Amino acid sequence: MMSTVEEIADLKRQHNAVVLAHYYQRPEIQDVADAVGDSLQLALAAQQTQADVIVLAGVRFMAETAKLLNPDTIVLAPTLDASCSLVEQSPPDAYREFLAAHADHTVVSYVNSGLEMKAMSDVVCTSANAERVIAALPHDRPLVFGPDRHLGAWLQQRTGRPMVLWNAECEVHAAFDAQQLDTLRLANPNARILAHPECPSPVLERADVIGSTSALLTYVMDHPHDSFIVATEVGILHKMRHHAPLATLIPAPPLHVTECACSACPHMKMNTLDGVLNALRTLAPRIEIDAELAARAVRPIYRMFELVQ
Ligand code: 13P
Ligand code: SF4
Repeated sequence: MMSTVEEIADLKRQHNAVVLAHYYQRPEIQDVADAVGDSLQLALAAQQTQADVIVLAGVRFMAETAKLLNPDTIVLAPTLDASCSLVEQSPPDAYREFLAAHADHTVVSYVNSGLEMKAMSDVVCTSANAERVIAALPHDRPLVFGPDRHLGAWLQQRTGRPMVLWNAECEVHAAFDAQQLDTLRLANPNARILAHPECPSPVLERADVIGSTSALLTYVMDHPHDSFIVATEVGILHKMRHHAPLATLIPAPPLHVTECACSACPHMKMNTLDGVLNALRTLAPRIEIDAELAARAVRPIYRMFELVQ
């Protein structure tokens, strides 16, 4: 009898399928993936693959982005229920009303957003390219940024461009706490703090390095003997440990948690290895997007690619 890992490999061959996994996926899913990446890397991998089937092990908006960029490919998600607090805190009707009050603004949306929000946007960005996308936008119109208010506040500071911000946050990164970081730093005086820009500003003010998931991983790989306090989702530690086995990695705990030092995204963690296997066995569940909505939602993603190659 084949193991789960062997059966996944066998089904990938049979269906000419690839598994694309986000860095926040469980280690066993990352280990069967053909590519592991952050949101931008996964979008590019989905766009460029020659596979007939993509299993996108991440959250739903990532699978939707893959389908938008590769509409002729079957895109499977191990579960369709893996949402994101940024999507849940941004109902399309409320966002439409918000935009109507800022009609003369250029609308920049984080890729961590629903299809309707993307469709209402002028340009999309990811955490890896947000600064470059905003820097490339003409200065003739003011900016709206949504949905992540912490990322938006950090981008205002970095780019010097004022923005009207939508008020949503990532439930994982918003839970990191400045006082806990101070305590960890006192106990580990040589450790540098790494933080994702979805963290609140008191956390970012204490960080030595701020960057997207891939940028933080690259920083650790470039300093493989150093110590780090990592203020982002705990899944990234798998690749950090793999690529920098001698680095000391201290996961920052979320607020009010002192025992377990982990900060896991409940949406990302809905995916399991059995879920990946089941998707490959049944070729379901599939991401299907209404053609008219897809045409509107993909436009700002292509604009992102035009602005930053
Ligand atoms: P990146 O993949 O762009 O680093 O974003 C982090 C995240 O929260 C994804 O859900
Ligand atoms: Fe959404 Fe945050 Fe989870 Fe990423 S980590 S999927 S932004 S809730």
